[in-house]
Amino acid sequence: MNAEPRDIAAVESLLAFWADAGVDACFEEAAVDRTIVVAPALKAVTRATASVTPVVDMVDATSDARHLAHGADTMEALAEAAASFKGCELVGMGARGCVFGRGDPHAPILIIGEAPGAEEDAAGEPFVGKAGKLLDKMIAAAGLTGKVYTTNTVFWRPPGNRTPTPQEQAVCAPFVERAFFLMKPKAVLLLGAAAARGVLKTDEGIMRMRGQWREWRLAEGDVSAPVMPTLHPAFLLHQPQAKRQVWADILELAVKLDGQENA
Ligand code: URA
Repeated sequence: MNAEPRDIAAVESLLAFWADAGVDACFEEAAVDRTIVVAPALKAVTRATASVTPVVDMVDATSDARHLAHGADTMEALAEAAASFKGCELVGMGARGCVFGRGDPHAPILIIGEAPGAEEDAAGEPFVGKAGKLLDKMIAAAGLTGKVYTTNTVFWRPPGNRTPTPQEQAVCAPFVERAFFLMKPKAVLLLGAAAARGVLKTDEGIMRMRGQWREWRLAEGDVSAPVMPTLHPAFLLHQPQAKRQVWADILELAVKLDGQENA
């Protein structure tokens, strides 16, 4: 069936409207875990199909990451292992280096953001720019200074500060999971939709998820912790009225930690 030019124009105009509104990806109604990659079966198929070679690379890169991450028994060793990893495509996209973590690696709270930005890339530490300073202020006001360790779903700055792709997050995930395993935090704070997607493997909207406790449980190692998704502090720089919601989520975090520490 041929579409009428009028219909095509209407669809184009609707797509342009969505793009202007920041909608840059289409999802199915049911959540799809794109990080699982159906590894062994896909690997076999892709070996025979040259056109989908990147998936094979991704499977190999993820297993390299897992191998490196599992070899690290301290957070310091894990940061070094991540810095030696070359399997994330972001490594060759202009980032100066690996930005792994900041704070006390024995802290009871693990904070996970999206990806390093320009200032983090220059400093080699996460959340040192404007958004990070705002986050630090909120953490301090909640009495949590010194009780957090901060990292990201990927450790290299994406070009143009774009959102990391699910594939980039998936190859870095073994390092994030190992950090979770080594720290065994009492609670985790996820900053923004991309962090929630990367860690909780969900396409649910951040507005719906924020303010609600979820559970993050590792498949191996029997490690779990309550997880609070909230809005990204960079969003608050443009939408200061949303600070109220993030503040409420951070207070929830402080209360949860208090409860866990006094349990
Ligand atoms: N935004 C993030 O998500 N992470 C950083 O480290 C800095 C800004």
